[in-house]
Amino acid sequence: MNKLKHLAIIMDGNGRWAKQRGLNRTKGHERGAEVVREITTYCANYEEIETLTLYAFSTENWKRPKMEVNFLMKLLERYLKNELETYMENEVRFETIGDLSPFSNGLKRAIKNLKEATKNNKKLTQIIALNYGAQDEIVRAVKRVLQENKEISVESISSALDTPYSEVDLLIRTSGEFRVSNFLLWQIAYSEFYFTKTLWPDFNSAELEKIIDNFKNRERKFGGI
Ligand code: FPP
Repeated sequence: MNKLKHLAIIMDGNGRWAKQRGLNRTKGHERGAEVVREITTYCANYEEIETLTLYAFSTENWKRPKMEVNFLMKLLERYLKNELETYMENEVRFETIGDLSPFSNGLKRAIKNLKEATKNNKKLTQIIALNYGAQDEIVRAVKRVLQENKEISVESISSALDTPYSEVDLLIRTSGEFRVSNFLLWQIAYSEFYFTKTLWPDFNSAELEKIIDNFKNRERKFGGI
């Protein structure tokens, strides 16, 4: 049976979920944040899972209408401030990947505070990708290696990424799209993929459990036979 140590999720379909109900897209994001809480709690209590990486905001998401971008920023800030108890109760350490420099001081402060408050939690590391693009991450990693006068190698680039390299075992994308969208390109070299039609606001731990069962029974070869 395969071990699931690192799970990564592209949370897609918030907008369509809201549209189907005649609601504003922002309602989909709000419901999506609740699903983030449910899935994180589930993963924290699933002993084998050490890391959960969630794609919350890509380097391309700035192209959305200003109102939606502002709403997402406020939602994130509120979530990081209000969920401290959930992080502590479930022993979840909070981390980020991506370039945080364009964010507001309020959001940056909320990120820093939550990282500090949760740094000793051991059950799960939740990594939220914010203003993240994998090509951007790889370019920044290569620059770091060169600045340190190290030789370019798989190992040196891996250790210069935004968080120390951790290979993704399973990548899930919701909402029926079959794309990777510039997420964790380096870390998914040998990942298993699972695409579900479920829109992110309808995703839940029961479906995740079924997907994990499916993953467990797959044959992984890592290039061997
Ligand atoms: C994709 O759906 C979702 C996003 C770009 C934002 C993800 C944000 C959340 C799940 C909520 C807040 C996150 C945290 C970590 C608390 P979409 O808007 O692209 O949906 P669509 O493809 O149906 O339009």
